[in-house]
Amino acid sequence: MPNHSIVELIRRKRDNGELTGDEVAWIIAAFTSGEVKKYQMSALLMAIVWRGMTDGELSAWTDAMLHSGEVLDLSAVPMPKIDKHSTGGVGDKVSIPLAPIVAACGVAVPMMSGRGLGHTGGTLDKLESIPGFSPFVPPAQFVPGLTEHQLVLAGQTETLVPADKAIYALRDASGTVPSIPLISSSIMSKKLSEDLDGLVLDVKVGKGAFMKSVAEATELAETMAAIGKRHGTPTVAHLTAMDQPLGNKIGNTLEIEESLDILRGGGPADMIEITRTLAVEMLVLSGIARDADAAFSMYRRVVSTGAALAKFRDVVEEQGGDPAIVDGTRPLADAPHRHTLRARSDGFVRDCDALAIGMAVVRLGGGRVAAEDVVDPTVGVVLAAKVGDEVAEGDELATIHYSTPDQLASALPLLEQAWATVPHPVEAPPLLISRISGR
Ligand code: URA
Repeated sequence: MPNHSIVELIRRKRDNGELTGDEVAWIIAAFTSGEVKKYQMSALLMAIVWRGMTDGELSAWTDAMLHSGEVLDLSAVPMPKIDKHSTGGVGDKVSIPLAPIVAACGVAVPMMSGRGLGHTGGTLDKLESIPGFSPFVPPAQFVPGLTEHQLVLAGQTETLVPADKAIYALRDASGTVPSIPLISSSIMSKKLSEDLDGLVLDVKVGKGAFMKSVAEATELAETMAAIGKRHGTPTVAHLTAMDQPLGNKIGNTLEIEESLDILRGGGPADMIEITRTLAVEMLVLSGIARDADAAFSMYRRVVSTGAALAKFRDVVEEQGGDPAIVDGTRPLADAPHRHTLRARSDGFVRDCDALAIGMAVVRLGGGRVAAEDVVDPTVGVVLAAKVGDEVAEGDELATIHYSTPDQLASALPLLEQAWATVPHPVEAPPLLISRISGR
């Protein structure tokens, strides 16, 4: 690869010029090897935040990230391989029931998830609240695991897309996270390294999401779908609402409980709606279901017969987790204390602020402020009133599960402001906003 001057490339990007594919490939390789320094990469990232990327730059950037490490080869897995990714929200535990439901229908799901940082939870933290469960699945285990169970529940391995890990840490420390091309290439390089036949994206919009407006979320979804298409991986995105938390339980063990409810055929209506919509999309994308109606029948069958729950049980046990948790014969650990939050007046709930509730769970110890923080899996919030519900003064809005009085005192101010009621009826907003296809 020819050598380049990083300073000249930073200047060009700063002045709104375009980088060639070779230059982009060199930047990522030279950063990974240490030749391009962190301060130089930070300057380039800031230029990208301001100037954006052309389609050619974005394609080259994603491709260079994707090939910065090992790429899975799942060609020996005989089933279609489809994964789902959510851009992150509060109470978003959909991946946990969705993956075994789709796997029980015969699609291979090489699920690779991350930990929570900030107000959004991470699937990995939730799964790790099952005693004994290990998300460390080495790349060589994917083919046997998927062939036998059609499902692996893995954490991001160090060997896949190492450039993203290093660049994400820099972005976090240099104020360069909010950039649609940088977010898209970061997410898509990791997903494309899984050697998928198709990808379904859940792009969250609203107070508790990265993307606060439908316009921004649409641009992110279209950008990711276009990357998938260019790479030959059909990608479908759904924009879904994240102004209030998804489901009723927020916190790691609480979210496992609610995921098990969904797998047993119960659970809150909003969780069911998103899980079903994304499952139908994955089943149709895989070709296993000929259309949405057929996919919906498959979904109903694997949930009502217990096949999806059994799939989850098998994979949890295979990865060291206690199957009695899935069977419901042993409860998950619970926080030692409860505090009930009550409505201060009669009315209808207009706001149940996902960001405030997500931040409150972090203050209870259920999330991270810094990557090295240790999470308390038992704490969280159980919602009793959501947008549109009628409440009378003194009715329960939520129950807080907490471990120490200090953590409760720190979380309460956020929770006390999270609910707003008005005297007139409020219609619950739609959950599914739009669908964007990059097939
Ligand atoms: N999630 C990612 O994986 N990368 C980003 O840049 C933002 C969210």
